Amino acid sequence: MHRPEIFDPYPAGPDIDVLPSFFPIPGLGIVPVNAFVLKAQEPVLVDTGLLDLSDGFMDRLSSVIDLDDLRWLWLTHNDHDHIGSLHRIIEAAPRIRVVTTFLGLGKMSLFRPLAVDRVYLLNPGQVLDVGDRKLTSVRPPTYDAPETTGFYDHKSAALFSSDCFGALMAEPAESAGGIGSERLRDGLIAWTKMDSPWLHAIDRDEFTKTINYFLGLAPKVILSAHLPAAHGMTDELLQYIAMVPDEEPFVGPDQLALQSMAKSGGGAPQ
Ligand SMILES: [Fe+2]
Ligand SMILES: [Fe+2]
Repeated sequence: MHRPEIFDPYPAGPDIDVLPSFFPIPGLGIVPVNAFVLKAQEPVLVDTGLLDLSDGFMDRLSSVIDLDDLRWLWLTHNDHDHIGSLHRIIEAAPRIRVVTTFLGLGKMSLFRPLAVDRVYLLNPGQVLDVGDRKLTSVRPPTYDAPETTGFYDHKSAALFSSDCFGALMAEPAESAGGIGSERLRDGLIAWTKMDSPWLHAIDRDEFTKTINYFLGLAPKVILSAHLPAAHGMTDELLQYIAMVPDEEPFVGPDQLALQSMAKSGGGAPQ
């Protein structure tokens, strides 16, 4: 795969659809880029995919829910792989409000401001009531932007974890359980080192407390932006995350390596 590709939605539960795409990282494999639709009484879209794939994203989103029905857009953070269709959706879904943090709102304003009545600020620990269930905002164990929030859905027992628990993969898949433990561990550690390099300098006791909090939360399914749906794998995934501080820090390919990838047709950026 040399270009980002969008795939058809798949269910991750009776009231959750995954809107998947995959993004190639030259020399390292592919990484999923997922958004989600949570069919709560007040339906929630989680993130908005890649800009390059926006037409396909809007088609697939419309295939799983009427945009008029969408009430919330939980923006986990403002990275480009999460805001690709943000402004199209705000225009096309008249009742939708963007759930973000003060910092997230500020960062959005640097690019294109949102009307205040289309935004809802929610901090980690606070709760959003979406009619038939409550969603508790959480700061995931790892993240790459300070405005990041995920959430725990108390009805489905799903943890929407933003970038956390992402993994580099060899090929597209719809289930993290199908990747194989060793490949999943290596891919998850490789992704996490790139995405959260600050883990190498973290206070270990504090990190253990964070890991234990999520072990205690015990979500039945983890829905990461960068991993296929992971059912019944919370202990395993947290075990891999806990290994990352002891790993060698990631150092990316340099200019010579980039030129050699380009020469060998290895999918280096144009
Ligand atoms: Fe990110
Ligand atoms: Fe991301």
